[in-house]
Order: sequence, then C-alpha cells, then structure tokens
Amino acid sequence: MDRYAVIGNPVAHSLSPEIHHAFAEQTGQRLSYEKLTAPAGGFREAADSFFATGGLGLNVTLPFKGNAFEWVHEARGAAARAKAVNTIALEDDRTAGFNTDGEGLVGDLRALGVNVAGRSLLLIGAGGAVQGVLPALVDAGAGRIVVANRTVSRARALAARYPANVESAALDGLAPGFDVVINGTSAGLKGQGALIDERIARDAVCYDMLYARDGSTPFCGWADRAGASAVADGLGMLVEQAGTAFAIWRGVRPDTRKVLEELRQGCT
Ligand code: ATR
Repeated sequence: MDRYAVIGNPVAHSLSPEIHHAFAEQTGQRLSYEKLTAPAGGFREAADSFFATGGLGLNVTLPFKGNAFEWVHEARGAAARAKAVNTIALEDDRTAGFNTDGEGLVGDLRALGVNVAGRSLLLIGAGGAVQGVLPALVDAGAGRIVVANRTVSRARALAARYPANVESAALDGLAPGFDVVINGTSAGLKGQGALIDERIARDAVCYDMLYARDGSTPFCGWADRAGASAVADGLGMLVEQAGTAFAIWRGVRPDTRKVLEELRQGCT
C-alpha cells in the first residue's frame, strides 16, 4: 500500500493520520499514514530510512521543518522562501519539499470570510510558525504586515527578508488599527494567551495558529474577552495545509471543510 507519514518530536498527539485517513476515504484512495518519532538531531536518518523502504511522502512537524528544508533535493515555492519544509514528496528518485502552512492559513481565513488582500496584519512571534506562513501572506496581497516578537532582533531579521510592507516591532508599544491579529507563538502551550495590549485585539479578527478540538486556546479566550470581532483557532489551518499536501501527493483535492467539521465533532 502507498505509505505516508508525519515525522516530528513529539508527534503522539498529531491529528494528521486522522485527517489524511479521512481524505483517503472521502476520495477513494488506498494509502497508509503513520506517525514517526525521530530523536532530536535524527531527522536525516529517519527520513533516509523512510524513503529507502518505499515511503512516498512525509509531513514534517516540529522541530524538523528546517532540517527537512536542508534535506530535500529541491525546495519549491514558499518552502524555498521560508527555508522550512512541511511536506515532502518523492518524484522519481528525488525528493521535493513544499510548505503548505501559509496556503493553509490563507485558505482557512478565506473560508472564515477574511480576505487578507489589502488588509493590515499583525503577526505575533518570529519562530518557525510565522516563518512558514509569511510567503503566502505576502503573496495574498496583504497591505501591511507587522511581525512583532518578544525578541525583537528575530522579528527584524525575518522582516528584512521580505518587501518593505513587512515590518518588525516589539510586543509592547504596538498601536491599534490591525484588521487581523495572528498568534504564531508557542506561549499558549504553557497556557499563556495574553501577549499584547488588549486594545489591539478589539474589533480585529484574531487567529491562533495553535488549535484545540473545541477551539478554546488561551489566545482565543483572551481575544474573545478583549472584544475581537471574530476568533478562530488553527484547526482549520491544519486541515487546509493537509489538504494541499494530499493534493500534491495524490493529485486530488479533498473536501477539507467537511473533514474539519467531523474533527470538531470528534467523529473522524
Ligand atoms: P516555533 O518553531 O514553534 O515557532 P520557536 O522557533 O521556538 O518555535 O518560536 C516560538 C515563538 O514563540 C517565538 O517567537 C517566541 O518568542 P522569542 O523569539 O522571543 O523566544 C515565542 N514565544 C514563546 N513563548 C513566549 C511567551 N511566553 N511570550 C511571548 N512570546 C513567546
């Protein structure tokens, strides 16, 4: 059977197998999709062995997206610009690396009724998550993108790789006026939702790249209390990025919103 997997550390709680099995069922494809845990520093060996034993494609999650970028024969499009790969496909005897995270975010925002073209965006964080989505947000025609990070030098270095409408800032001292506020930090994993002045979230669409099955992440709770016009967690982004990966591998695009609905109801 055609073999796929998600590789990361930790990967035990990944929803990717559930999502890809649901896509496969929906589109009538026969494939297997497993979870692979690689030790820190062990990406190369694990990926070599997966493809040497007949694997056809990998999704890559934390902390290996940078290692995957270095490992693939060729990084394409957003992956080359972000220097991060979340999807690997075997093409003949060569591996191609893609980054579908940004497309997933833009696609989920669109499905939620938010078109980022011409809008003013605040991205909180400057780590792997933000790095991965920036190319797609720039390509979607965002009017202004401010990357704000606790460690300002990281935000500055990241913004410098993009056109002039991508700026950097510190977390404090931000002025209100953003249409969309996106959390790309990992602070929520430790229960922290408040990262910036709450006046910035008021009347803005607030989006958390972290997710919870019931949508209640710390950042979403904080944004709701701050008076955001709409609040969403990143489960939709996860499903959308998986949908694009599935289309790269299998040549058919699944109905992602249906699978998202099933996940929310816990019935995949
Ligand atoms: P990832 O690849 O998951 O993005 P990372 O590269 O370690 O992981 O980045 C984590 C991001 O969350 C960073 O932007 C980090 O800020 P720093 O660059 O200053 O470390 C941010 N972050 C994590 N915990 C945070 C907290 N408690 N408050 C504010 N930002 C936080």
